[in-house]
Amino acid sequence: MSTTPTAQKVAVVTGAARGIGAAVAARLAQDGLAVAVFDLDEAACATTVETVEKAGGRILAVGCDVSDSEQVEAGVARVTAELGAPTVLVNNAGIIRDNLVFRMTDQDFDSVIGVHLRGAFLMARAVQRHQTAAGWGRTVNLSSSAALGNRGQSNYSSAKAGLMGLTKTLAIELGPFGVTVNCVAPGFIATDMTEATAERMGITFEEFTERYVKTIPVRRRGRPEDIAQAVSFFVREEAGFVNGQVLFVAGGPKG
Ligand code: NAI
Repeated sequence: MSTTPTAQKVAVVTGAARGIGAAVAARLAQDGLAVAVFDLDEAACATTVETVEKAGGRILAVGCDVSDSEQVEAGVARVTAELGAPTVLVNNAGIIRDNLVFRMTDQDFDSVIGVHLRGAFLMARAVQRHQTAAGWGRTVNLSSSAALGNRGQSNYSSAKAGLMGLTKTLAIELGPFGVTVNCVAPGFIATDMTEATAERMGITFEEFTERYVKTIPVRRRGRPEDIAQAVSFFVREEAGFVNGQVLFVAGGPKG
């Protein structure tokens, strides 16, 4: 008996050259989606591309600064032409510019809000066209336990709390079109970003880990794959009734 082939879904994952984004891209490819990886430098996505291609997946690397609306529009148009119209979006790109408030510059504040919050908005606005046209879509935004407050991160914490509001509003606006929008809020995950935090504090990553892990109920630091797993859940067909939610993936209830 012949079965009707269903078109392969196309996902865009931002900031996927490394860390959590790279793990999410690999996981979604494993789940059967074609994946476009956006990062500042297309060439920096080489390892992510190689991992997915070796596993037999379809992947496209796109150089794109997500805080720039023209680059976002051009990037999404390129994905549509080369892979197909994207209906899954994971807003993961991020930067940190930590400082206590009295030392934080306008630039530190604006650049962090620009990448995390404006970037997520620009991407969501560009991709929702394809999601609503298809009558189906999934957007997952990467927030953080820092949304609840974190010393030295007034810029980052504001952006991550803003992403929760953006998630809930988009969930309300896009739900009627079959599109769900959810948020994953990671705790401490071992990546270049947290290594940079340890460096700024003047301690080794191992010392940083040792201090931090004592405060995590499951007594370990998170891995990018822990987050990829949660994103994969929200993207799944069966998760269609889960909309506008925030899932903390932090090894315990304390944000
Ligand atoms: P990372 O620093 O290892 O990777 C971030 C990626 O985003 C890099 O490849 C970078 O080039 C890219 N990027 C930065 N600015 C960009 C822009 N304007 N346009 C496109 N790409 C850009 O970070 P990590 O740890 O993998 O974090 C990923 C996401 O998860 C971020 O949104 C971060 O805030 C969030 N997160 C991370 C946590 C952690 O413990 N590592 C905890 C909570 C949230």
